[in-house]
Amino acid sequence: MAKRYLFRIFRFDPETDEAPCFRDYIYEEEKPKVVLEALMDIRNEQDATLAFRYSCREAVCGSCSLVINGEFELACRTRLASLGSDIIVIEPLPNLPIQKDLVVDMEPFWQALERIKPYVMAEEEGKGGERREKEELSLTPEAEEKTIIPTLSGYRIEEKEMEAIEAFTNCILCGCCYSACPVVSRDESYIGPIALAKLYRYVRDPRDRRSFQDWANIGTSSGLWGCDTVFRCNEVCPREVRPADGILALRRRYVWEKIKQIFKKEK
Ligand code: SF4
Ligand code: SF4
Ligand code: FES
Repeated sequence: MAKRYLFRIFRFDPETDEAPCFRDYIYEEEKPKVVLEALMDIRNEQDATLAFRYSCREAVCGSCSLVINGEFELACRTRLASLGSDIIVIEPLPNLPIQKDLVVDMEPFWQALERIKPYVMAEEEGKGGERREKEELSLTPEAEEKTIIPTLSGYRIEEKEMEAIEAFTNCILCGCCYSACPVVSRDESYIGPIALAKLYRYVRDPRDRRSFQDWANIGTSSGLWGCDTVFRCNEVCPREVRPADGILALRRRYVWEKIKQIFKKEK
């Protein structure tokens, strides 16, 4: 027998609506479904104007993150039965502007990430590798200037080193931590948890060549020292990344680098 749910869904179109509201939909679950499938059924069968975002449907792309019955979840992996309620309230991620209904503008989140240059700045040559000739790649002079040529053997990393950063590499950029962070709520200049945790991931990565001078400017109240360490980001992350642990580790690294600088000056 089909199970009946009441879906109470946040609706708002900033271009036409004066204020947001919740709209109710009765949903009959014929066979076990996840929230994303239910939303797709509701859109296809009841209300084609309902907007929400998704892509992979495999808990990999991070685009279907929502607040479901008050909890931050990926809609594509949250089973209706697991919610333990006949009423399912769906809201968009907070701390981000609403584009339409459940779709938010992720631009502030991406901008925060851009501030830390979220990629490994690799050395020109890895250990024991042969350097490829630039001519071999037929680059234009401009591209040649900007390009770091990888070695044939790639860049090796020890297992122990990888373990230290692995949790942070599991981030799927779903935005839940940024949306749940109370500091982001009250101070939009704060960079947010995942940018800081990712910065730690690169600073700790032995393949990354950025120097302390390259990231020292993060030591401000809108950066590294803005976090209240209430660990909300750790609680909500669907991939158990624990960004706040990365923030604390980055703070320790920052202080250590500062101490090194003081001793260098005294010598
Ligand atoms: S620990 Fe820091 S970054 Fe994480 S939610 Fe709390 S204030 Fe935000
Ligand atoms: S740290 Fe977790 S909550 Fe934050 S963006 Fe990455 S996967 Fe999402
Ligand atoms: S659709 Fe990609 S994580 Fe849910």
